[in-house]
Amino acid sequence: YQVNIDPNAASKGTYEFYMLKEICEQPTVLHHLAQTYLDQAGTPQVDPKITTGLSRADRIYIFAAGTSYHAGLVGKEIIEELTEIPTEVAFASEAGYHFPILSQHPFFIFLSQSGETADSRVVLQEAIKRKIPCLTLTNVPNSTLAREANYAMSLEAGPEIAVASTKAYIAQITVEAILAKAVGEKLAKKRAKDFLLKENLALAAEGIEQVLSTQDKIAQLAQKYLVSSRNAFYIGRGIDYPVALEAALKLKEVSYIQTEGFAAAELKHGTISLIEPGTPVIALINDPLTADLMRGNIQEVIARGAKVITIASQSLAKANDDIVLTNLNYYLSPLISVVAAQLFAYYTSKIKGLDVDKPRNLAKSVTVE
Ligand code: G6P
Repeated sequence: YQVNIDPNAASKGTYEFYMLKEICEQPTVLHHLAQTYLDQAGTPQVDPKITTGLSRADRIYIFAAGTSYHAGLVGKEIIEELTEIPTEVAFASEAGYHFPILSQHPFFIFLSQSGETADSRVVLQEAIKRKIPCLTLTNVPNSTLAREANYAMSLEAGPEIAVASTKAYIAQITVEAILAKAVGEKLAKKRAKDFLLKENLALAAEGIEQVLSTQDKIAQLAQKYLVSSRNAFYIGRGIDYPVALEAALKLKEVSYIQTEGFAAAELKHGTISLIEPGTPVIALINDPLTADLMRGNIQEVIARGAKVITIASQSLAKANDDIVLTNLNYYLSPLISVVAAQLFAYYTSKIKGLDVDKPRNLAKSVTVE
């Protein structure tokens, strides 16, 4: 397998940190994935052995760690929507020693930027023993998890150097969507046929550019609300919930602010006790079904003194929202909304004077269990 990587891809260029460079590369990653895996008409071009294998599955199991796990949670929603195949997502580190109960015809997907995560390898080896078909989605096509699985697909994101993963996350979601459309179409699912993936990827790339153009505002909000805070929350409902988890991870990894991602309505079932005057709460509003309820959840935290930053899709946005995002298919909205969160994390860390690319205690890939 030959990857087309620009020889300068691993250089920082004019950027102060790799993390910002990689955040800014995301529109290009989406264009590149569309070119690689979709034809002119937008039909997925995926190895038919992979689509056939997946279309025969009665249940799909996704295993991953860290940011890749969060991409799996978004992927589950897209796969179930387009294929109607029930999909489970598990931490590889847990599944390795507490193997999930399997359906009759399981199919395993491993998500891993590096393709070297030891926790995932434990599950893969057990799966191989049990002759379960395994597909690895990785950014390193000759990595261990790619070589050992029956099938592999490249994330095509180019080298990711910053420890905090950004472009690999959106590449994972995109490849999951490509697979979901391919399998859904094979199963003659109307929702898969009607899913305008190519158009939405082009829109997502524009939407990311638009978020990138609000960097100064994000840096100002980070300075005002996050930099001197000890804790923070991201809240969201529907597909915004897994994005809230990833957004919180991003902020805590690089800024050392203790941040929790929450399903917005769950806050009131206990955690709202942590909201004090001044606690920053960043609200994601991209789910039309629950947007009004989100507004209610926002009022609940404001009433307890929270400082709320809102990130909303244009069609759901209100006049005072802080960051307004290009409208996109609901299932793909994480491709844009996460970028705002990546930038909040980046600027908070940078303003605090931290080593954005190499946060303390973290490694880019973890090859021990
Ligand atoms: C490490 C990294 C995380 C990453 C996780 C999974 O903990 O610090 O950023 O998400 O491993 O890595 P993988 O390469 O399997 O996606």
